[in-house]
Formats: sequence, structure tokens, C-alpha cells
Amino acid sequence: MAGVTGSPFRLLAREQGCPLVFSEMVSAKGLVYKGRRSRELLQFSERERPIGLQLFGSDPGIIAEAASILVAEKPDFIDLNFGCPTRKITCNGDGGALLRSPELCRRIFRAIVASVPIPVTVKIRKGWDEESVNAVEIASIAEEEGISAVTVHGRTVAQGYSGRADWSVIAVVKSALTIPVIGNGDVDSPLAAEELIRQSGVDAVMIGRAARGNPWIFRDVLARQLGKAPPAPPALPEIKKMILRHFKLLIDFKGEAAAAREMRSHIAWYLKGFPGAAALRKQLALISSYTEAQALLESLPASDSNI
Ligand SMILES: Cc1cc2nc3c(=O)[nH]c(=O)nc-3n(C[C@H](O)[C@H](O)[C@H](O)COP(=O)(O)O)c2cc1C
Repeated sequence: MAGVTGSPFRLLAREQGCPLVFSEMVSAKGLVYKGRRSRELLQFSERERPIGLQLFGSDPGIIAEAASILVAEKPDFIDLNFGCPTRKITCNGDGGALLRSPELCRRIFRAIVASVPIPVTVKIRKGWDEESVNAVEIASIAEEEGISAVTVHGRTVAQGYSGRADWSVIAVVKSALTIPVIGNGDVDSPLAAEELIRQSGVDAVMIGRAARGNPWIFRDVLARQLGKAPPAPPALPEIKKMILRHFKLLIDFKGEAAAAREMRSHIAWYLKGFPGAAALRKQLALISSYTEAQALLESLPASDSNI
């Protein structure tokens, strides 16, 4: 998730058992034309592997060139973003807008698969809108052109993040393809992951928003999949420890000022749901250093129920 799942967060997710992580989406044009921000998004640590670096763009030649640049960073695979619904992206014909042009999708797949020696995967949505649902068509083209796996988010691009994800379309894609299919949309608990797998037969599930402030969700989902007892939810001391570790990792990654800005939202997510945490969240939303965050967290009572 852009702006959320940078290298530090991905590492925390991996440590909690998440078996596969993806980078935030990176602009193919930005890479080819040497944007500094694009380069920054490519950084990852060895401990995050297996990792896929995700590209967005719509020009087959530029995507192929950007993919060659990505290969030099040695990711385990490259993922293509054919699902982003943000206007800034779709108005350039990128992200989810590509679902409206199946033949262009084919040319992109063909160009990138021919230009890199590592697996390429793609993330798509149900379709552009309810009148043009075509996930099966796009996923089948991907398979024909040598794409290694397809992730399907069960919403249309027009839906953005509203409504519920339609898991039945994920099931249809799964039954049409032989390459692995990853189901995505509204998996927010071990039970939901199990349900999506049961209803669609997917090979894996992708978890997005529910992981914000909750890297433990991966441990919880895995426990259920392995038939183990559900782990106890993290108590406040463990949450505080995770927040500070996240902060430290972010500081190493981008310096304290930028880390503090990013941590404001992460901390709000980590503390979401704690009774009485709203007032504290306001203060935390203003933090500008690690020591400030530490002092505020220390001022929290030790027991969850006292917040
Ligand atoms: C803030 C935000 C940023 C996102 N950025 C990306 C992105 O860079 N690449 C991508 O493939 N999906 C991105 N997504 C979509 C999610 O990966 C996921 O498909 C979507 O949120 C549905 O899954 P969920 O219900 O588990 O969150 C983003 C979603 C959000 C909310």
C-alpha cells in the first residue's frame, strides 16, 4: 500500500509470518526518467525476501525499460499494478484504467515478460465498472503471455474502496486459470481469510488495510490455517514495543523527521480500538521525534483496560 508498506513495515509483517510482500507501487516513467522518489521506493532489506517490486505505467516500452532497472535491485519478482483507482493514476491511463484496454494489457505483459529473467505477476480488479466486468479476460491474457500469478481485488475500479469486495469473481478467475491466483479484498481476520479460500479456492490471500497497525494479523491467519490455537491478541506493552521498533526502523530508513511524520498515522492505527485512546491519538498525531513518541507511550497505563 502506497505510503504505508515501506521497507520497515514489510519487515515487521515478514517477522509475523507474512510469507510474501510487495513494495508500494513505483512509477515506470519515474524510474526511467530517474525520479529520486521512485528510487527510494525500491529499497528493501534482504530479510524481507521473498519480495516483489510493483510497477505502474501503461507504455509497454517504458514498462519494459523500468523492469530492467528493477531487475538490477534483485527483487524475487516484479508485480504490475493494473488496479489503482486513484484519479491521478487512472487519468493517465495507468493502474485500473488499463482494464479498459485488454489489447494494451497484452502488449504490456508481452513486453515485460520478454525483457526480464525473473517472474512477473499482475494485480487486477474485478473490472473497470459493473458494466465492464472483465477480470477473467485480463487474467487469461496474463496467463497466455507468461505472467506467473494474478492477484484479484474483488472490487471494480469505479468502486474505489467502497462497498464489499465480490469474492465470487475471484472464484471465477481461479477456476479459469492454471497459474496461482491470489484473492484480495476485505480480508480482515483469520476467519475471513479462511472463508475467501473456501469460497474461491485461491492459492493465497492478500491482506491490505487490515494490516495497518496490526502486523500480528499474519501470525493470526497462519495459526488458523495451520489448525493452531489462536494467539492471544497483543497487549499494550507489546503494541508499544512494536510501535517503537517500527519507528526505529523508519528512522534508519528515512531519517527522524520524515519517520515521525509517517509514524503519526501508523501510531493511530496501532492504537485504534483502545478505549479512551482518541485523546492520546491527538497528541501522538503531533509528534516530531522518537523521544516524544516514547514519552507519550510511557505515559500510557500498563494495562489495556485503564486507558
Ligand atoms: C492507502 C492505500 C494504498 C494502496 N496502495 C496500493 C499500491 O501501491 N499497490 C497496490 O497494488 N494496491 C494498493 N492498494 C490496494 C490494496 O493493496 C488492496 O488491494 C485493497 O486495499 C483491498 O484489499 P484490503 O481490503 O485487504 O485492504 C492500496 C490501498 C490503500 C488503502
